Amino acid sequence: MIRVLYPTSDAVFYITTRTPTTEAEWGELQGKTMMLAESANLMMLPGRARDQDRWMQDSKLLLDVGIAAFKAAKRKDVEALSALNDQLYASCVTCHQHYRPNYGRGRGAQ
Ligand code: HEC
Repeated sequence: MIRVLYPTSDAVFYITTRTPTTEAEWGELQGKTMMLAESANLMMLPGRARDQDRWMQDSKLLLDVGIAAFKAAKRKDVEALSALNDQLYASCVTCHQHYRPNYGRGRGAQ
C-alpha cells in the first residue's frame, strides 16, 4: 500500500504546489494517476479483496477517483485534479475506517 498508493496519491494531493511544467512531468503524472486506478482494480481481485461487499464498494471509490484523475491529467487540468483531492482523501479514509486495524487511534490521517 505504501509503495504504490503513497507516491501516486501524493501526486494528486500536492498538485497545486508540485504542478508539472514539462511534457515529461505531465506524462509522469498521467502514469501515476493510472496506477491509482489500477491499484483499486488490484484490490478487487480474488485473493486480495477482503469480502465481496463493502470492500468492493470502498475500492470502487478509489477506482472512480483514480479514473477521474487520470482523465484530468490527460487534459492537464490542474483545477480538476485539485478538486478531486477531497474525493481521493475520502476514498482512502472510508476503507481504512472499515478495514484497517486500530485506525484513527492517534496515528496520522490517510
Ligand atoms: C479498499 C480498501 C482501501 C483503500 C481504498 C485504501 N486503503 Fe490503505 N489500507 C487498507 C488496509 C486494509 C490497510 C491495513 C494494512 C493491511 O491490512 O494491508 C491499509 C493501510 C494503509 C497504510 C499503512 C501502511 C500499510 O501498508 O499497512 C497506508 C499509508 C495507506 N493504507 C495509505 C492509503 C492511501 C494513501 C489510500 C488512498 C489513496 C488508501 N490507503 C486507500 C485498505 C485500503
